[in-house]
Amino acid sequence: MNTIGKRVEPFAPAIVITGATQGIGRALAEEFAREGHALLLVARDEAKLEAASRLLAEAHGVEVKFAACDLGTIEGCAEVEEALRRFGLYADSLVNNAATMTAGFFQDEDAAKLRRLIDLNVQAVVDLTRRFLPGMIARGQGGVLNVASMEGFMPVPYQATYAAAKAFVLSFSRALSYETMGTGVRVSALAPGTTATGLHAKAGAENSRYVMLLPAMTSEDLARVAYRQFKRGKKVIVTGWFNRLCVLAQHFTPHFLLVPMMGWLFRVRDEAGNLQWPKDSNPPKAASGRLPFDAASGD
Ligand SMILES: NC(=O)c1ccc[n+]([C@@H]2O[C@H](COP(=O)([O-])OP(=O)(O)OC[C@H]3O[C@@H](n4cnc5c(N)ncnc54)[C@H](OP(=O)(O)O)[C@@H]3O)[C@@H](O)[C@H]2O)c1
Repeated sequence: MNTIGKRVEPFAPAIVITGATQGIGRALAEEFAREGHALLLVARDEAKLEAASRLLAEAHGVEVKFAACDLGTIEGCAEVEEALRRFGLYADSLVNNAATMTAGFFQDEDAAKLRRLIDLNVQAVVDLTRRFLPGMIARGQGGVLNVASMEGFMPVPYQATYAAAKAFVLSFSRALSYETMGTGVRVSALAPGTTATGLHAKAGAENSRYVMLLPAMTSEDLARVAYRQFKRGKKVIVTGWFNRLCVLAQHFTPHFLLVPMMGWLFRVRDEAGNLQWPKDSNPPKAASGRLPFDAASGD
């Protein structure tokens, strides 16, 4: 085939946002679209992706594509790259936001569910970053925004795996932001505190004290600040005075106090406020019939 004179259309830039159908990812998509960026939204539910893409495109007049894939699998991550190619796009920036949470005694957690959590919250973050960061560095622009959590700053009983995965995301992002210095590419970690989304209820943590007692931000307020600070190149983005105070305080709080405090806040409770106990165990009762103080868990 004679290709002389054929115009080769260059690929167009897009922001890849994972977990973009609801909650924080959806709010971040809104911010990027408002600033005129084309988007590739990623999640599993095709109907929700379709609806979110249509609404964002109509509201902001930008191109919005979507890819329905399970990022907890290698095939799902590869599909993101494939979808970009299909749509004639490249990843100008990547927002690794999709994650799941589990809550409760570690010994009672479903092993397959824990594996899926690590595959999504850790493995997919590394996989997608590895796929798209080299291109950004070669172009000398773009960025990666990894959504970590305040839980990444400290050990969290009853959400042990989730918090450890978020510690990974924080550490990974901080290291990459150093490595990419001077390349024109920024790597940031966003560490939200409690945010009003469906995440906690899906994990069965909606009655835990941290949900009931700590101030919660809306996804929209969080995304507005996060977007601005990501554009400015802030390496670790902590939003709200309360969360910033907590990050500062945890530096000066010894772990023998910090961990029980987290245990007290994160222990799963039912609607009536009764504490969850490990399966196959009888809740210890004091002679008075009241539950005794459990120093190890902070309760
Ligand atoms: N909410 C908070 O209080 C809070 C606090 C700190 C940090 N964060 C972090 O913020 C991020 C967003 O949380 P959120 O509260 O907005 O969660 P959310 O409301 O539960 O939304 C999660 C998003 O991820 C997608 N998703 C879940 N599993 C997926 C998979 N296997 N493959 C692809 N997509 C998947 C979901 O869509 P599908 O189900 O259709 O796949 C959905 O779009 C997470 O990284 C979370 O850890 C949240």
